[in-house]
Amino acid sequence: MGGLELDEVTKAFGASRAVDDVSLVVDPGAFVALLGPSGCGKTTLLRLVAGLERPSAGRIAIAGRVVAEGGRFVEAEERGLGMVFQSYALWPHMSVADNVAFGLKVRRLPAEKRRRRIADALAMVGLSELADRRPAQLSGGQRQRVALARCLALEPPLVLLDEPLANLDAHLRETMQREFRRLHRETGATFVIVTHDQAEAMALADTIAVMHEGRLQQVATPHGLYSAPATEMVARFIGRGALVPVAILEPARDGRLTVSLAGRTLPARGAATVPGPGRLVLRAETLALSDAADAIPARVVDAVYRGGFHTLEIAIDGVEGGLVQVQSREAPAPGDRVGLAITDPWALPAGG
Ligand SMILES: Nc1ncnc2c1ncn2[C@@H]1O[C@H](COP(=O)(O)OP(=O)(O)O)[C@@H](O)[C@H]1O
Ligand SMILES: [Mg+2]
Repeated sequence: MGGLELDEVTKAFGASRAVDDVSLVVDPGAFVALLGPSGCGKTTLLRLVAGLERPSAGRIAIAGRVVAEGGRFVEAEERGLGMVFQSYALWPHMSVADNVAFGLKVRRLPAEKRRRRIADALAMVGLSELADRRPAQLSGGQRQRVALARCLALEPPLVLLDEPLANLDAHLRETMQREFRRLHRETGATFVIVTHDQAEAMALADTIAVMHEGRLQQVATPHGLYSAPATEMVARFIGRGALVPVAILEPARDGRLTVSLAGRTLPARGAATVPGPGRLVLRAETLALSDAADAIPARVVDAVYRGGFHTLEIAIDGVEGGLVQVQSREAPAPGDRVGLAITDPWALPAGG
């Protein structure tokens, strides 16, 4: 239980669509990240799932039960989910334990059951010792744990997290990422986290849904997004790398195709179904200097020593704006001619 299904969900504010025709299936027990730049509609999508917004169109089902469709709308408190926000939204005048208890009181749980749930939730996030403190006496990370405990005490089948780590420093964020993974494993609940940080999405989620301007761009594993981005937006947003224009000569068969770059023909991975203009995704690990006769002709623009290796900025002949980065043990000087070997790059149709 705890799966989630969105079917052609749209949320319009006036003339603009914050969420635009989103369809997404989240399996029970999955850990999914909604990833995208600020303003792309992540929070709105999460609020639609939570029941804090009504969709303008589409259908939302949680654990197989339709919670929003047409005139049908299940209120937030009837959806049985847990939510954690960037602002932890703790009651300042209540102790840690009372903050955690609050959600349970609203649900009218018997006192004995309530006490056990509070103790369990505090133990799960490592706060048993601090149960009597006030939020003001806690660090940022501890406050975030209280918010988590308050959510987990409800034993929700579906946990929604909206940029929960954005206010923490980098070190604490990493610690909390490990905690989130552990809590996900231990509770068996479905987790959906919103983040604009691709490293965080990759560290946490087994599936990432990339959003851009209200629309879903791609839903895939972290590795799938990195190695086979479906659109130029995803290719630019996930991982570092350059997109250089190529001509797709032979469209894909069994995931392989042929492209032309700087007068050379080379094999690539891809899904493009028609010949024509394309983009090659060139990440540092797919590139190396080469003396081979069929190497791509190029020129060194800049070279920076990084300790043990150099980072070279390289312009491929005849490719406008096509600066790529290569790591190299050799140290050619700016202006030097070099050859480039490209191993197993990913090709996209242009404008995709
Ligand atoms: N209540 C609202 N009224 C009007 N516009 C809104 C409202 N909530 C969000 N928006 C707009 O919807 C878009 C998506 O916002 P949001 O979902 O908060 O994005 P994200 O969480 O990805 O940063 C933004 O352009 C935002 O200004
Ligand atoms: Mg947001």
